[in-house]
Amino acid sequence: MRAEKVPDMTWARRAVPAAAAAVAALAARDLIQRDHALLRNFPVLGRARYLLEAIGPELRQYIVAGNNEERPFTRDQRRWVYASAKQQNNYFGFGTDNDIEYTPGYPIIKHRTFGRAVPPSTPTAGHDVRLPCAKVLGAARGRAHAFRPESVVNISGMSFGSLSGNAIAALNKGAALAGCFQNTGEGGLSPYHRNGGDLVFQLGTAYFGCRDEQGRFSLDRLKDLVAGAPVKALEIKLSQGAKPSLGGLLPGAKVSAEIAATRGIPAGQDCVSPSRHAEFSDCDSLLDWVELLAAETGLPVGIKSAVGDLGFWQELATLMRDTGRGVDFVTIDGGEGGTGAAPLIFTDSVSLPFQQGFTRVYKIFAEHDLHEQVVFVGGGKLGLPDNAIVAFALGCDMVNVGREAMLSIGCIQAQKCHTDACPTGVATQNAWLARGLDPSLKSVRAANYLRTLRRDLTKVAEACGVEHPGLIDTDAVGILDGRTGSTPLHEVYGYQRHWGLPSAADQAEIVRLMTPEAPQGGSAPPSPTAVG
Ligand SMILES: Cc1cc2nc3c(=O)[nH]c(=O)nc-3n(C[C@H](O)[C@H](O)[C@H](O)COP(=O)(O)O)c2cc1C
Ligand code: SF4
Repeated sequence: MRAEKVPDMTWARRAVPAAAAAVAALAARDLIQRDHALLRNFPVLGRARYLLEAIGPELRQYIVAGNNEERPFTRDQRRWVYASAKQQNNYFGFGTDNDIEYTPGYPIIKHRTFGRAVPPSTPTAGHDVRLPCAKVLGAARGRAHAFRPESVVNISGMSFGSLSGNAIAALNKGAALAGCFQNTGEGGLSPYHRNGGDLVFQLGTAYFGCRDEQGRFSLDRLKDLVAGAPVKALEIKLSQGAKPSLGGLLPGAKVSAEIAATRGIPAGQDCVSPSRHAEFSDCDSLLDWVELLAAETGLPVGIKSAVGDLGFWQELATLMRDTGRGVDFVTIDGGEGGTGAAPLIFTDSVSLPFQQGFTRVYKIFAEHDLHEQVVFVGGGKLGLPDNAIVAFALGCDMVNVGREAMLSIGCIQAQKCHTDACPTGVATQNAWLARGLDPSLKSVRAANYLRTLRRDLTKVAEACGVEHPGLIDTDAVGILDGRTGSTPLHEVYGYQRHWGLPSAADQAEIVRLMTPEAPQGGSAPPSPTAVG
C-alpha cells in the first residue's frame, strides 16, 4: 500500500509568522514616526491612502474619469493621439459627447458648401499630403539661408535632460520620417538629435552647447555647432508658458557625462540656468543680437516667449518698424503649456493662455504692419486638430507640438516628469526606465501622429473651402455663447477682417503649391446638362 502524500506545510509555517512580524514592525515604525499624523493614528492602514494618492492619476484615467475630464489632456484627446500614432481606427462613434449646445466659449468651425478646394474622395486621402508653411522663413529679412518649412506641424523644444536620450532619438527619427523639424530645447544639441531629423537650435539663458568655460555665450562655438548639424533656424528662448521668467537647476546627480558633454558643463555638478539672458538686456540689444546671429550663421532667427506684460511687444514692434532690424519668427507659448518641472504657481497662474496671449501679440505686429513679414508659430495644446485650426485662423503659420508628441511615443500622462521616475521612459535619465523606450518603433508612431494631424488639418481646410489651414480666416470660426449665439473670431479678439492671413502673394503661392496637377475630387465629371 502506497503511503498518502502529505502536503508540505513547512513554507507556510515559516511565511505566516514572518509576514506577521513584518507587519508588526511596520506598525511600530508608523506609530513611532512623527512626520505623518495619518500613519500615527492609523498604522499600516494609513499607507493605503499614500498608495492611492500615488496611483491616483492612473486609477482616475482607467476607471473613474469621463471622456472629457482630466487635464492637461482628456481621455478623448489622448485616445485620438494614441490611435493616430498606431495607425489604428481614430474615429469616434455615435456622435459627440461634448456639451456643444451649452458650453460657452466652444469654438465651431464653419464649413462651406461651395468652396474653392474640392476635397479628395476618401476620408483617409491626404494622409501623406505635403503641408508646407505658407510663408518663407527668413525671406522678408533676406537671410542667406531663408527657406520654406516643409511642414506646418513641428516638434516643440524639449531638452535632452528633461527627456531621455531614447525619447529625443525617437522624436528626431520621427521628425525625419514625417519631414518636419525637431526643436532642440535649451539643453544643447546631443548625439540623440543626430538621427536624420532637421533641427531648430534653441538658445536659452545658459547657452548650453554654445558657451565657453566661464558659461559665456560663444559665437564661434555656435557657428561650429550649426555647421556640423542640420540646423535650419535659431530660436532665442525668452520664456515658456509653463514657467515664464524662471531659471532652472539640474541637480549634479543628474548631470551625467553625456548631458555634461552636450551642454558644455562639468559632469556631476549642479547646473544652473539663469532667469535672464546675459547677451542682451532690452529690445534694442535683443534686436542687435538677432541681427548678429543671422549675419554670422545665415540662418533665420526667432524668439520664443510666453505673453504677460505687453510693453515688451509694443517696443519690439516699434523698433522693428523704425529701425529695419527684426526677428524672422515669433513662437508664442500659452500658459497652458507643459514643462519637465516647475512650481505650481508658475504653471497655474503666470502668463496668458495661448489664444489670449497670441492675439494680443499678433494685433501689435499687425498694427505696425509687420504681420505679413513675420512667421508666427503657436504652442500650447495645439497638437490637437480643433485647437490648431483656431490657431491658424488667428494667424499662426505653424504649430509646435510638445506633450502630444510625447503621448505619441508612449507617455501615459502619469505626470511624474519632475521625479525622474517616468514609467514609460520618456521623461527620465534613469537608464533602466529609458531602456524600455525603443526609439525605432516609437519614431514610426511619432511620424504617424504628425502625419495624421496634418491630414486632419488639410481635411478641415478643404471643408472650409480653402487649400491650406493657413488660409482659414477668422470668419470661419465662431465662438459659441453657450445658448443661442456665436461670435466670429475677429470680433471676439478685436481683429480687422483681413488679419490672420498671409500676404496676397504668399496666399497665391501656397494655393499654387497645394493645388494638384491632376484634378482630384470625389465626384464624377459633370454631366452634359450640368449648369455650374
Ligand atoms: C518635458 C518638457 C520639456 C520642455 N523643455 C523645454 C525647453 O527646453 N525649451 C522650451 O522652450 N520649452 C520647453 N518645453 C515647453 C514646450 O516646448 C512647449 O512650449 C509646451 O509644452 C507647450 O506645448 P504642448 O502643449 O504641445 O506641450 C518643455 C515641455 C515639456 C513637456
Ligand atoms: S508618462 Fe512620463 S513623460 Fe508622460 S507625464 Fe508621466 S512621467 Fe511625464
